[in-house]
Order: sequence, then C-alpha cells, then structure tokens
Amino acid sequence: VEIVRAETIGEIRTAAHLFDNPIDDDALAAFVAREGHHLLLAVYEGRSIGFVSAVELVHPDKGMEWFIYELGVDDGFRRRGVAKRLVEEVERLAREAGAYGMFVLTDLDNEGAQRTYLSTGGEGPQPGVLFDWRFASDG
Ligand SMILES: CC(C)(COP(=O)(O)OP(=O)(O)OC[C@H]1O[C@@H](n2cnc3c(N)ncnc32)[C@H](O)[C@@H]1OP(=O)(O)O)[C@@H](O)C(=O)NCCC(=O)NCCS
Repeated sequence: VEIVRAETIGEIRTAAHLFDNPIDDDALAAFVAREGHHLLLAVYEGRSIGFVSAVELVHPDKGMEWFIYELGVDDGFRRRGVAKRLVEEVERLAREAGAYGMFVLTDLDNEGAQRTYLSTGGEGPQPGVLFDWRFASDG
C-alpha cells in the first residue's frame, strides 16, 4: 500500500467510492482549487482503498493548525494499519508546513477511529461539546 497525495480532480475521483455521499462537481473543483485543502490516498494495486482529508486553519494569535476532516478505509482493507499510515502522513505534511498541531472530531462510539487517533499520538478523547448549524438547501 502506497500513500500518495491526490491533487487533481481525476485523482480525487478515484476515492469516490470511499466518501459518504456522491461527489458534487462544484465542491470537488473548489476543494482542488483552494489553498490549504489536502487529500491523501492509500493505493493498493492501482486502486484507492483509503483516504484522509485535512484542512489548514490559521488564527492571528496561534499560527497554523491542521484539521483532519475525513478518514476512511475500504471495508476489505481495514485492520491492516492503513488508517494509521494515512494519519501519520498527514502529521508529516502538517509538520513540514509549519503547523503547531492538528486535531480531529469523531463520534463517542467510533472505537476504530479513536483507536487510530490514540495509536498515532493523538491526545484524547478530550472533553467538549459540539454545536452545529445545518442550512437547508433551497433547491
Ligand atoms: C476508522 C477506520 C478509518 C480505521 O481504519 P483501519 O485502516 O482499519 O485502521 P488501522 O488498521 O490503521 O488501525 C489503527 C488502530 O486502530 C485499531 N482499530 C481499527 N479499527 C478498529 C475497530 N473497529 N475496533 C477496535 N480497534 C480498531 C487497530 O487495531 C489499530 O490499533 P493499534 O495501532 O493500537 O494496533 C476505518 O474503520 C473506517 O474507515 N471506518 C469508517 C469511517 C470512519 O469512521 N472514519 C473516521 C471518521 S472520524
């Protein structure tokens, strides 16, 4: 399994089957065009079998922090260290870019994700509560 950066629309499309929802062409184009948006693929025999996405966040008093946005490994390739390698590569890139840290959110009952973050040096689970705002689309 090779971990590679996906930087073009075509490369990112190879991970479509790993995403929660079908790809939205406009969102994909915006993701590729936008600075600080990263997506890594785990590739096995020419096929994408895992991915991780991350976004750079900057604040005036803190500098740059990376947010791990999504992480997913194909059902048939789980428990083989693929997610661990993806997160380790995000960490390497974040350090290289000068970030002071990174963070991720996951569900309380997502044991696989929590084990992955613990085993890659993440400190947690941290206490906290999340609020969100969902905007219904007009279409
Ligand atoms: C979570 C997920 C990415 C883990 O991928 P993976 O490639 O199987 O993980 P790894 O093989 O790299 O395992 C990393 C560590 O987590 C542990 N782990 C992975 N899945 C686990 C599970 N279901 N239950 C318990 N431990 C688990 C591994 O044993 C390993 O621990 P170790 O390093 O202490 O030995 C994968 O299960 C997945 O895609 N789930 C659905 C999507 C998801 O929930 N993504 C996270 C959103 S925040």
